[in-house]
Amino acid sequence: MAEVVVVKFGGGLITNKSKLCTPMLETIDNLVEVIDRIINCGLKVIVVHGAGSFGHLRAKYWRLNEGMVEDHKFAPQIDCQNQYQAVSLVRKDMLTLNSIVCDAFTKRGISTRSLPPHQWAKNTGSNFSGEISTRFAAAEDVIVTFGDVVDCDIGEFGILSGDDLVVRICRDIPQVSRLVFAVKGVDGILSKPPNVATDEDLIHEWSPSVSYSGVHDTDIDVTGGIALKANRGAEVASMGIEVVIINGEKPERLFDACLGKSTRGTRILDK
Ligand code: IPE
Repeated sequence: MAEVVVVKFGGGLITNKSKLCTPMLETIDNLVEVIDRIINCGLKVIVVHGAGSFGHLRAKYWRLNEGMVEDHKFAPQIDCQNQYQAVSLVRKDMLTLNSIVCDAFTKRGISTRSLPPHQWAKNTGSNFSGEISTRFAAAEDVIVTFGDVVDCDIGEFGILSGDDLVVRICRDIPQVSRLVFAVKGVDGILSKPPNVATDEDLIHEWSPSVSYSGVHDTDIDVTGGIALKANRGAEVASMGIEVVIINGEKPERLFDACLGKSTRGTRILDK
């Protein structure tokens, strides 16, 4: 297999996070255009996308990240009466978002193989069960997977974040040389909250001992925001893989980061 780059498209980048199931089609198309150029440079790409408003809003309401909750009476929604229905609906919505992403590739003549985690993965965190190396060695140009609701041994179900998936993919596929997180609204990890940060507050090199501003939409998100990316990123960096967080709305930065060229963003080191 050729050299592989793993790219995480943040859910907040590819969807409008506050409006249920609203994709950002132009952003998705811009990202796909860059991936097209990267493939043309001879690299193989694995795309892991997040959920944004196709996952977090309903998962949060129904507390799917906590698994089966016995001691709480949820107020039913018009289209959803209980946690089991919420699990099916979020899985369905994630498949919809995944088809939108895959369609953007198909339109450019790029073949994709989609691997929905609820069909092959079990349990949450980066040590989830699921075979990666054979499954992700498919012949298509781009392999696509995403954060999903998966079955779990404890609590019946849970949320497997794309940020956990990328760690395992990097660990289990020897040809991976680089991991790039494309995020929304920031140039990388900042030392101050985004609303007060200036250009100088970008942390160019981050390792776990460096303090940073970990602002996170806990009202909306069921997974870990920038802190999860930073920590998972450090785990991947310890495997000798280059890890960078960049602003996903700047196509040239994504392109450069995927090719290992220096660009504006945060390089993550393990120490
Ligand atoms: C979350 O996945 C999956 C669901 C809520 C179903 P991610 O953790 O990868 O999603 P984003 O990038 O934060 O949206």
